[in-house]
Amino acid sequence: MKNDTLLRALMREPTPYTPVWIMRQAGRYLPEYNATRRKAGSFLSLAKTPELACEVTLQPLERFALDAAIIFSDILTVPDAMGLGLFFVEGEGPKFERPVRTEQDVAKLAVPGLEKLRYVFDAIELTRRSLHGRVPLIGFSGSPFTLACYMVEGGGSDDFRTVKTMLYSRPELLHRILEVNAQSVIAYLNAQIAAGAQAVMIFDTWGGALSDRAYQEFSLEYSRRVLAGLTRHNDGRVVPRILFTKGGGTWLESMAEAGADALGIDWQTNLAEARRRVGAKVALQGNLDPMALFGTPEAIEREAGRVLESFGEGPGHVFNLGHGVSQHTPPEHVGALVAAVHSRSLGAHAA
Ligand code: CP3
Repeated sequence: MKNDTLLRALMREPTPYTPVWIMRQAGRYLPEYNATRRKAGSFLSLAKTPELACEVTLQPLERFALDAAIIFSDILTVPDAMGLGLFFVEGEGPKFERPVRTEQDVAKLAVPGLEKLRYVFDAIELTRRSLHGRVPLIGFSGSPFTLACYMVEGGGSDDFRTVKTMLYSRPELLHRILEVNAQSVIAYLNAQIAAGAQAVMIFDTWGGALSDRAYQEFSLEYSRRVLAGLTRHNDGRVVPRILFTKGGGTWLESMAEAGADALGIDWQTNLAEARRRVGAKVALQGNLDPMALFGTPEAIEREAGRVLESFGEGPGHVFNLGHGVSQHTPPEHVGALVAAVHSRSLGAHAA
């Protein structure tokens, strides 16, 4: 591989500079993404057509000197494959035709046949071939809990009232859903690894909506089971795992014990403090405020410098935003960020 800085940094090995990639780097802030999406007709047909998914995965790498590609897909492909009927309403985000709410719904739920997700594995194989070892390809999944939020709510939510009603009134039903989700995510990520994903990331976008006790029991416990079930080596190399919990700043110590090699850190968390708290257990990925990309290029460079200084010297840092890039971001500001991270971090991660 020509550039393996991401894989090395995730394993806390020395790198010549801090590798950088951007959550949602292939997305609506890029005009070429919007053009391919129009060609596909919809987000879902884009995600389900391997040639087009591969095309948009590579688009940000043509513009910016990013150190990783992330396969273009979505976390909701798994509940879609379970038969819940995923659809998108323009401006309203994802929805499910058949949410999982009653005892009968839960009883019917099962680990989906992987052939239903073949389009994801095909997109990964195709993208690996097209990358020619330029940078590593990241695979991903939602966490069992974050998937359950969408499955029970039937879409996004402000207060998670439906899934929390289940959590507090019928916890055994939610545990059953989470068990099926954990088994599904293990099979899904292992198939992504077999198809060529060189690192994997678990997005626990909504774990941060839980109380401390509920987070441990309903979110982290199932991410831990997933991590314990993942293929460790492929193609003679360790496959590093990243666990990202938005709003997870209070749980870094327990997240660091869950079996991940790296933790994704959101932008509200102090990176220096996060590093002190997890010590040498895991690498850290993050954590610029996505809105910092609306500053001038000079301000972006300064803010990138602040994140780098906050992590400090020594290996184990992957630069990223603290959450996904906004669709309103000027693309050239992402270019300014990537250049600033590379130039300002030269020599910071020697042994
Ligand atoms: O990072 C990447 O470039 C890979 C692609 C990626 C997408 N979704 C593409 C996408 C990844 C890693 C995801 C993960 C995802 N999807 C998460 C977890 C990460 C996070 O942001 O916390 C979640 C919660 C989802 C669910 C989801 N998918 C939502 C809420 C939406 C709607 C967003 C909106 O504003 O309409 C999606 C759709 C989606 N997934 C888009 C993209 C680029 C926008 C789709 C479009 O083109 O209209």
